[in-house]
Amino acid sequence: MSDDPIRWIWAALTVVAWLAFTGWTIQRFRVRPAAAAQPGSTLIAVASQTGFGDELAEMTRKAFADAGRPARVKFFADIEPTDLIGAARILFIASTTGEGDAPDSASRFVRRIMTDQTRLEGLEYGLLALGDRTYVEFCGFGRALDGWLKSAGARSLFDAVEVDNGDAAAVRHWQGELSRLTGSVAAPDWAAPAYADWRLVERRLLNPGSPGEGAWHLAFEPVDGALQWVAGDIAEVGAPSPEGGLAHREYSVASLPADGRAEFLIRLMRRPDGTPGLASGWLTETLGIGGIARMRIRANRAFHGPDAATPMILIGNGTGIAGLRSHLKARAARKATAGAWLMFGERTAAHDSFHDAELRGWLAEGTLTRLDRTFSRDPGDGRYVQAVIEAEADSVRDWVARGAAIYVCGSLEGMAGGVNTALETVLGADALRDLVETGRYRRDVY
Ligand SMILES: Cc1cc2nc3c(=O)[nH]c(=O)nc-3n(C[C@H](O)[C@H](O)[C@H](O)COP(=O)(O)OP(=O)(O)OC[C@H]3O[C@@H](n4cnc5c(N)ncnc54)[C@H](O)[C@@H]3O)c2cc1C
Ligand SMILES: Cc1cc2nc3c(=O)[nH]c(=O)nc-3n(C[C@H](O)[C@H](O)[C@H](O)COP(=O)(O)O)c2cc1C
Repeated sequence: MSDDPIRWIWAALTVVAWLAFTGWTIQRFRVRPAAAAQPGSTLIAVASQTGFGDELAEMTRKAFADAGRPARVKFFADIEPTDLIGAARILFIASTTGEGDAPDSASRFVRRIMTDQTRLEGLEYGLLALGDRTYVEFCGFGRALDGWLKSAGARSLFDAVEVDNGDAAAVRHWQGELSRLTGSVAAPDWAAPAYADWRLVERRLLNPGSPGEGAWHLAFEPVDGALQWVAGDIAEVGAPSPEGGLAHREYSVASLPADGRAEFLIRLMRRPDGTPGLASGWLTETLGIGGIARMRIRANRAFHGPDAATPMILIGNGTGIAGLRSHLKARAARKATAGAWLMFGERTAAHDSFHDAELRGWLAEGTLTRLDRTFSRDPGDGRYVQAVIEAEADSVRDWVARGAAIYVCGSLEGMAGGVNTALETVLGADALRDLVETGRYRRDVY
């Protein structure tokens, strides 16, 4: 045996290093328990575009929890084939957007799982399909999902429940099916939205002289109750209907709770006979200052913002600037320095430059890094907002390469499709699809 102290020290150091390495290796490669579902737990899989489905998923989970049954909610974006193959029972909640399309958050599911040959013989499922009968393909995605599940061998627990424009009776029907599954008799009323009273405190026409219909800036304060929402959320307004009751309409919130009020940009819509739209007419013409609107604000998860370190490209037209403005306000408040590029389209620079002074202020102070506006009725311009994407293709590619997230708000017809095509041309279809599936391309279009 050596009695050389130097050799002893080296030997000890070698053992310590080996132990440290082994410990690190075990720690690094240890098989971590998966976020395991409780045995017998029901999976609630939700695909929502504007947040209604998310709310129903949470209420469904709560109905199970109240009956002492474990259940968990998972977004379609996070669902893997093993979730389906391993599950005994799944409740699907699926809305339809665009023209019979799946919500953006279900893009990966549709592409990777619904085209798969997976067999699901052991699976029982229930389906709540959300849609609106005014669209040609009523519940298009819900029905496609139902067909795929059946063809994969899964067994439906009951006929799919289809909800037309939030129809309370259909939602109650779903609740009844849940009660049968859980064995619970308690059936609290979930369907009626809990509207609160909000007082109109300001209304200002933002586009006097415009060739388009009036676009009004409205501000409401809660009569009592909290101001609680984040950029991207949507207000549901109950407008008095001539047939009695309240007609439900949605508006993007254009401000933040820190403003002390919920602000909107609302365009007066006209019917083919020239009469004002029910809700937009009531909000912009009938309701007086100091008058009360029934309203609630709903979380719109799919349009919440990225962190302050992510650059944003914000694209919109018309009243779509409302949903983008709340994001810019949030960026200004957080002093985000990652950059924000607003592309906005309207009719005339002279009359339709909504929130012009505010946008210029943000540009001067750095909240906005770039501002590109197009005006389709101005001689010398005549372009729609999507033209900016193609004209500035190199910059768009550069922003996306730097990690930018793209947020689109405004018209479905005429704008969202054109913007999508232009982005596909500039970035490539696969890259754009990746942006959708990683939450870097988000849309709030109507
Ligand atoms: C997520 C979301 C966000 C939105 N954000 C905004 C926003 O920020 N600002 C904004 O201004 N709007 C927004 N909207 C649109 C808004 O919800 C309403 O759809 C809009 O104000 C029109 O409602 P209305 O009750 O005035 O019109 P309605 O009376 O419902 O009429 C709407 C339109 O339908 C057609 N129509 C209605 N009745 C008939 C009929 N009998 N025959 C033929 N056609 C008919 C007409 O074209 C009419 O203009 C948003 C919508 C969604 C889904
Ligand atoms: C832009 C847009 C497009 C829509 N397209 C359809 C459609 O093609 N078919 C349908 O049944 N419903 C359609 N709807 C209605 C939604 O499915 C319905 O409002 C649903 O309740 C939304 O649920 P969500 O908030 O969970 O996405 C559309 C709604 C919007 C705003």
